[in-house]
Amino acid sequence: MIITHLNATNWRNFQKIDVSLCERQFIVGPNASGKSNFLDIFRFLKDITKNEGGGLQEAVGDRGGVPTIRSLVVEQEAEVAIEVVIADTSESSETWRYTLGFSQVPQSQSYSHRYFASLTHEQVWKKDKLLLNRPNIEDKKDPDRLIRTALEEPEHGLQELAHFFQSFTYLHLVPQLIRFPDLITIESVETDNITRRSGSISRNKSNRTQFGHGLLEKIASVDEETLRSRMKTIEDALKNAVPQLEHLIFSHDEIGHPHLSLRCSNWRPNSPAQREDQFSDGTLRLLGLLWTLIESESVLLLEEPELSLHVGIVSQLAPLFFEMQIKTGGQILVSTHSDDLLLEPGIDGTEVLMLIPTGTGTEVKAASDIDAVRQLLESGFTAGEVVFSKSNHEQVEKSESLE
Ligand SMILES: Nc1ncnc2c1ncn2[C@@H]1O[C@H](COP(=O)(O)OP(=O)(O)O)[C@@H](O)[C@H]1O
Ligand SMILES: [Mg+2]
Repeated sequence: MIITHLNATNWRNFQKIDVSLCERQFIVGPNASGKSNFLDIFRFLKDITKNEGGGLQEAVGDRGGVPTIRSLVVEQEAEVAIEVVIADTSESSETWRYTLGFSQVPQSQSYSHRYFASLTHEQVWKKDKLLLNRPNIEDKKDPDRLIRTALEEPEHGLQELAHFFQSFTYLHLVPQLIRFPDLITIESVETDNITRRSGSISRNKSNRTQFGHGLLEKIASVDEETLRSRMKTIEDALKNAVPQLEHLIFSHDEIGHPHLSLRCSNWRPNSPAQREDQFSDGTLRLLGLLWTLIESESVLLLEEPELSLHVGIVSQLAPLFFEMQIKTGGQILVSTHSDDLLLEPGIDGTEVLMLIPTGTGTEVKAASDIDAVRQLLESGFTAGEVVFSKSNHEQVEKSESLE
């Protein structure tokens, strides 16, 4: 399943989002235009449904409460709302529609000091049939119920939807690298396990080889056939980035520890294979990214992957995302600030969402819905050439203000 449409109201620097989403979707915008805030909407849905430490209160609390999440330009009473449409593919009819609205807990509520948010509405449709419409009679009788979503309570029978949100993966390669230079990228495959509330990440495994074990153990845990086919896919992709690479090998050492090693064609004959602790950071990061791409069969949220990768690799990511998406049937939402990432001629205007800062927040539009951009794309320019052009941005902003 994928998310085919997103509506959001008053979420951070967006007063209104109303966009369709493709299987491969790029979210493009200048610094501080809201790329991370956009992806955070999906992380929020995941956080609500997390098995441990999840739920609406935690998801809102971890983000600093409703006043931090709600657009700063709207009044205090305004609600924050999210609606997602879910379908098997972007071409299929909708399977689920989930709508959630919340605001700050009214001071009049007895529990107001303990909770961050109160539901203003929650609706669930399955194939056009309205399954749930809150606030319902029970909520009206007992407003305390509005501190929890139906996704958190098994009796509502929404496990399939909750599991879908739970299955989202978020991958941000950069902050850990900046804050913890000895924390290699591979570890960020497990980013979702890091609690943002505490703001701290365990550093007791600061050795590079040990950090590799997070990934190595994941690799070691899959069955032999899956392992063989995934290693082949990764090897092929790595060969594009490291042309001399001959073989990528997964093996166990004499005491049973898993290892990756590689051989290059330009090494002298009989030289030993290189183990993961000697791989370049770029190779390790790419390995982590590739494994995540292969493993994720659901929605994968990638934050500016270009920031940690060599420019030659960056230009190969878009076709790689396309290939992986076809293989896994999932969805890849990628925020980016890089024209190199969007140079592939096959990128369609609908696959690029442009974040356009305005006086009162950021607007989100598909590149194909902006006349000036669509015309350039149709005349053969790549998305990378068009959407980052300064004059184009000015033109877009001008046309926005005339609308
Ligand atoms: N509640 C809010 N209302 C309005 N703007 C907000 C809110 N929360 C964050 N922002 C703004 O969002 C911007 C950061 O967005 P971010 O998603 O980090 O950008 P990007 O990832 O594109 O660099 C900042 O300018 C910040 O002031
Ligand atoms: Mg960001």
